[in-house]
Amino acid sequence: MSCNKMLYAGTFDPITNGHLDVIKRASSLSDELVIGVLENNEKTPLFSVEERIDMIGQITSGMANVKVISFSGLLAHYVNENGITAVVRGLRAAMDFDYEIKMAQLNARLYKGNVETIFLMTDPANSFISSSLIKEVFRLGGDIKGFVPDVVAEFMDMKGRV
Ligand code: PNS
Repeated sequence: MSCNKMLYAGTFDPITNGHLDVIKRASSLSDELVIGVLENNEKTPLFSVEERIDMIGQITSGMANVKVISFSGLLAHYVNENGITAVVRGLRAAMDFDYEIKMAQLNARLYKGNVETIFLMTDPANSFISSSLIKEVFRLGGDIKGFVPDVVAEFMDMKGRV
Protein backbone atom coordinates (compact mmCIF):
# COMPACT_ATOMS: atom_id res chain seq x y z
CA MET A 1 0.00 0.00 0.00
CA SER A 2 1.25 3.48 -0.78
CA CYS A 3 -0.37 6.51 0.83
CA ASN A 4 1.58 9.17 -0.94
CA LYS A 5 1.98 11.92 1.67
CA MET A 6 1.23 10.84 5.21
CA LEU A 7 1.16 13.06 8.32
CA TYR A 8 2.06 11.81 11.80
CA ALA A 9 1.19 14.69 14.10
CA GLY A 10 1.63 14.93 17.83
CA THR A 11 3.04 16.81 20.75
CA PHE A 12 6.15 14.59 20.96
CA ASP A 13 7.18 16.02 24.33
CA PRO A 14 9.38 14.03 24.07
CA ILE A 15 9.35 11.46 21.28
CA THR A 16 9.33 7.90 22.71
CA ASN A 17 10.19 4.44 21.40
CA GLY A 18 6.44 3.97 20.86
CA HIS A 19 6.36 6.98 18.52
CA LEU A 20 9.51 5.77 16.78
CA ASP A 21 7.96 2.38 16.08
CA VAL A 22 4.94 4.11 14.48
CA ILE A 23 7.27 6.35 12.44
CA LYS A 24 9.24 3.38 11.07
CA ARG A 25 6.11 1.49 10.11
CA ALA A 26 4.32 4.54 8.67
CA SER A 27 7.37 5.52 6.61
CA SER A 28 7.30 2.10 4.95
CA LEU A 29 3.64 2.64 4.05
CA SER A 30 4.05 6.10 2.55
CA ASP A 31 5.98 7.81 -0.21
CA GLU A 32 6.60 10.71 2.17
CA LEU A 33 6.01 10.84 5.91
CA VAL A 34 5.70 14.28 7.47
CA ILE A 35 6.14 14.38 11.23
CA GLY A 36 4.19 17.38 12.50
CA VAL A 37 5.12 18.75 15.90
CA LEU A 38 2.28 20.73 17.43
CA GLU A 39 3.46 24.17 18.47
CA ASN A 40 0.73 25.67 20.55
CA ASN A 41 -0.63 22.91 22.73
CA GLU A 42 -2.48 24.14 25.79
CA LYS A 43 -0.18 22.07 28.00
CA THR A 44 3.16 23.67 28.84
CA PRO A 45 5.73 21.42 27.21
CA LEU A 46 9.01 20.35 28.81
CA PHE A 47 10.81 20.82 25.49
CA SER A 48 10.55 23.76 23.09
CA VAL A 49 9.37 23.08 19.54
CA GLU A 50 12.95 23.60 18.35
CA GLU A 51 14.26 20.99 20.82
CA ARG A 52 11.55 18.50 19.85
CA ILE A 53 12.27 18.99 16.13
CA ASP A 54 16.00 18.65 16.79
CA MET A 55 15.54 15.34 18.63
CA ILE A 56 13.17 13.90 16.02
CA GLY A 57 15.44 15.11 13.20
CA GLN A 58 18.43 13.32 14.72
CA ILE A 59 16.46 10.13 15.33
CA THR A 60 15.02 10.01 11.80
CA SER A 61 18.08 11.29 9.92
CA GLY A 62 18.59 7.88 8.27
CA MET A 63 15.02 7.69 6.97
CA ALA A 64 15.04 9.17 3.47
CA ASN A 65 11.29 9.77 3.11
CA VAL A 66 10.74 11.36 6.53
CA LYS A 67 10.68 15.10 7.19
CA VAL A 68 9.93 17.02 10.38
CA ILE A 69 7.92 20.24 10.54
CA SER A 70 6.05 22.19 13.17
CA PHE A 71 2.48 23.34 12.84
CA SER A 72 0.06 25.41 14.85
CA GLY A 73 -3.69 25.71 14.76
CA LEU A 74 -5.93 23.03 13.30
CA LEU A 75 -4.44 19.81 12.05
CA ALA A 76 -7.09 19.75 9.31
CA HIS A 77 -5.86 23.11 8.01
CA TYR A 78 -2.30 21.77 7.73
CA VAL A 79 -3.64 18.68 5.96
CA ASN A 80 -5.72 20.69 3.49
CA GLU A 81 -2.99 23.19 2.73
CA ASN A 82 -0.16 20.71 2.28
CA GLY A 83 -1.56 17.93 0.11
CA ILE A 84 -1.63 15.34 2.90
CA THR A 85 -3.45 12.18 1.76
CA ALA A 86 -3.46 10.24 5.05
CA VAL A 87 -3.05 10.94 8.75
CA VAL A 88 -1.51 8.24 10.93
CA ARG A 89 -2.10 7.69 14.65
CA GLY A 90 -0.80 5.03 17.00
CA LEU A 91 -3.28 3.12 19.15
CA ARG A 92 -2.20 1.60 22.47
CA ALA A 93 -5.35 0.66 24.31
CA ALA A 94 -9.13 1.04 24.39
CA MET A 95 -8.79 4.39 26.13
CA ASP A 96 -6.86 5.76 23.15
CA PHE A 97 -9.58 4.53 20.81
CA ASP A 98 -12.34 6.57 22.49
CA TYR A 99 -10.39 9.78 22.01
CA GLU A 100 -8.97 8.92 18.60
CA ILE A 101 -12.23 7.97 16.92
CA LYS A 102 -13.80 11.30 17.89
CA MET A 103 -10.80 13.21 16.64
CA ALA A 104 -10.66 11.21 13.37
CA GLN A 105 -14.36 11.64 12.69
CA LEU A 106 -14.36 15.35 13.50
CA ASN A 107 -11.25 15.94 11.40
CA ALA A 108 -12.83 13.98 8.53
CA ARG A 109 -15.55 16.65 8.39
CA LEU A 110 -12.89 19.36 8.12
CA TYR A 111 -10.74 17.74 5.44
CA LYS A 112 -11.20 18.88 1.88
CA GLY A 113 -10.95 15.89 -0.40
CA ASN A 114 -10.24 12.29 0.45
CA VAL A 115 -7.99 12.02 3.49
CA GLU A 116 -7.83 8.73 5.40
CA THR A 117 -6.94 8.30 9.05
CA ILE A 118 -4.80 5.19 9.50
CA PHE A 119 -4.38 3.61 12.92
CA LEU A 120 -1.33 1.52 13.66
CA MET A 121 -1.57 -0.79 16.67
CA THR A 122 1.29 -0.23 19.04
CA ASP A 123 3.84 -2.99 19.40
CA PRO A 124 2.94 -4.65 22.75
CA ALA A 125 6.51 -3.96 23.88
CA ASN A 126 5.66 -0.24 23.86
CA SER A 127 2.00 -0.29 24.84
CA PHE A 128 2.56 1.23 28.30
CA ILE A 129 4.87 4.02 27.12
CA SER A 130 3.65 7.60 27.04
CA SER A 131 5.54 10.89 27.01
CA SER A 132 3.88 12.03 30.23
CA LEU A 133 4.77 8.84 32.15
CA ILE A 134 8.35 8.98 30.87
CA LYS A 135 8.65 12.55 32.19
CA GLU A 136 7.26 11.52 35.56
CA VAL A 137 9.59 8.52 35.90
CA PHE A 138 12.54 10.73 34.95
CA ARG A 139 11.56 13.53 37.33
CA LEU A 140 11.31 11.08 40.20
CA GLY A 141 14.74 9.60 39.52
CA GLY A 142 13.80 6.47 37.54
CA ASP A 143 15.72 4.98 34.63
CA ILE A 144 14.10 5.83 31.27
CA LYS A 145 16.54 3.87 29.08
CA GLY A 146 14.61 1.50 26.84
CA PHE A 147 11.58 3.78 26.74
CA VAL A 148 13.05 6.60 24.65
CA PRO A 149 15.76 6.86 21.98
CA ASP A 150 19.25 7.56 23.40
CA VAL A 151 19.26 11.15 22.11
CA VAL A 152 16.10 11.87 24.11
CA ALA A 153 17.65 10.47 27.29
CA GLU A 154 20.60 12.83 26.67
CA PHE A 155 18.30 15.84 26.16
CA MET A 156 16.45 14.94 29.35
CA ASP A 157 19.70 14.66 31.29
CA MET A 158 20.60 18.16 30.04
CA LYS A 159 17.24 19.52 31.24
CA GLY A 160 17.77 17.97 34.64
CA ARG A 161 15.20 16.52 36.99
CA VAL A 162 13.18 19.72 37.44
O1 PNS B 1 0.56 13.53 20.68
P1 PNS B 1 -0.84 14.01 20.93
O2 PNS B 1 -0.83 15.07 21.99
O3 PNS B 1 -1.78 12.88 21.22
O4 PNS B 1 -1.33 14.71 19.57
C1 PNS B 1 -2.59 15.29 19.49
C2 PNS B 1 -2.70 16.16 18.23
C3 PNS B 1 -1.55 17.12 18.12
C4 PNS B 1 -2.71 15.28 16.99
C5 PNS B 1 -4.06 16.93 18.34
O5 PNS B 1 -4.15 17.55 19.59
C6 PNS B 1 -4.22 17.97 17.25
O6 PNS B 1 -4.41 17.64 16.11
N1 PNS B 1 -4.10 19.25 17.63
C7 PNS B 1 -4.20 20.37 16.72
C8 PNS B 1 -5.49 21.16 16.95
C9 PNS B 1 -6.67 20.48 16.29
O7 PNS B 1 -6.70 20.20 15.12
N2 PNS B 1 -7.70 20.17 17.12
C10 PNS B 1 -8.89 19.51 16.69
C11 PNS B 1 -8.74 18.00 16.81
S1 PNS B 1 -10.23 17.19 16.35
